[in-house]
Amino acid sequence: MKTRPAMSPFPVSENVARMQSSATMAAMQVAEALRASGANVCDFGAGEPDFDTPDNIKQAASRAMQAGRTKYTAAGGIREINRAIIDFYQREFGTEYEPTEVMATAGGKQAVFNAAVTLLNPGDEALIPKPYWVTFPEVAVFAGGKPVFIETEETGFVLTVEQVERAITPRTKLLILNSPSNPSGRVLPPAQFRRIMELAAERGIYVISDECYLRFVYSPGEVFSAASLPAELRSRLCIAGSFSKTYAMTGWRMGYALAPAGWTKAMLKVQGHSTSNANSMAQWAAVEALNGPQESVAAMLAEYTARRAWLLDALREIPGFKCNEPEGAFYAFPDVRGCLNKGLKTSGEFAQRLLEEEQTVVTDGAGFGAEGFIRISYATSMEQIQEGVKRIKRFAAKHT
Ligand SMILES: Cc1ncc(COP(=O)(O)O)c(C=O)c1O
Repeated sequence: MKTRPAMSPFPVSENVARMQSSATMAAMQVAEALRASGANVCDFGAGEPDFDTPDNIKQAASRAMQAGRTKYTAAGGIREINRAIIDFYQREFGTEYEPTEVMATAGGKQAVFNAAVTLLNPGDEALIPKPYWVTFPEVAVFAGGKPVFIETEETGFVLTVEQVERAITPRTKLLILNSPSNPSGRVLPPAQFRRIMELAAERGIYVISDECYLRFVYSPGEVFSAASLPAELRSRLCIAGSFSKTYAMTGWRMGYALAPAGWTKAMLKVQGHSTSNANSMAQWAAVEALNGPQESVAAMLAEYTARRAWLLDALREIPGFKCNEPEGAFYAFPDVRGCLNKGLKTSGEFAQRLLEEEQTVVTDGAGFGAEGFIRISYATSMEQIQEGVKRIKRFAAKHT
């Protein structure tokens, strides 16, 4: 048998060596591998809608393909998608963005990435409230910046202006907001959001507002975008938006950034040398998503509303569980410290053993900076939710 020559270890760059792999992607892969082995898996790990992309959106992509719209586009996207994004913000929030302030990106993730790498210099501090979406600190690290975490447990994971103020130092350059939040599902009340933006403006701090779950807010809450704030509070603001969740389009890789012209110009430079442009057919699909009928969004929201109500009640009945009310997104983020003991010391062990003993996937809160919590995605069928909760209950009873 031929032996392969010994390989020297790959000399990973320092910035990338400091990055952590994505805990949420890892949970998805574990679920996939288990399913492939024939196990009857209950998967609460997925951060993506279980719905199919609405047909009108698929048709638009298909038409674009047939019409030969299969070539490179401008780095920031076709005129039609830029216009559709501007019009959406005008319609919904009364804000008039200029074409120089908008760009289409390959998913909301690329918008966050573009925004951070164009802003941060080595040593610059990026304020990141806990619990955070796993990508935020890694992107800041990749850009050479230093993530500075803000603890928010005392306020039920809802960030306050006082917490931000205490975390600011002379090196603070950026604050990353995400409401509704992944993983907590919490929503920043608009008045609180505004006070935080006022403080950031006063101190000359840039803000990325990740509005990936913008439209998924449950009654009586209301959809709020930082775009609706007065112009003087938006001069250092980049909104990172996404089509992935709102229109069940995770695989299409479509997102956008809205930011002042100077910031957008820098982001276009980075994107022009990385992915060039978002997928051309997906851009046409996204035009239809924004300009076409919106019934599918309302239907998904209604279904999430019903699942959320059932799930919250059920989780609160599990001994050892405590669960804040998630006002948005499609995650519950229970505190499971009441179930931890000598045999099960961390939420990571909780998640691992739940997987082994009950073939049920949840995501360990530690990956989001919240040890002791687990994230449960209810972007899965009611049937799966009910079966999964039954398993979690059985597991908790066995170990508590
Ligand atoms: C908070 C948050 N922002 C951004 C994204 C990225 O979405 P996408 O790149 O699919 O548009 C996600 C995906 O899970 C997310 O949870």
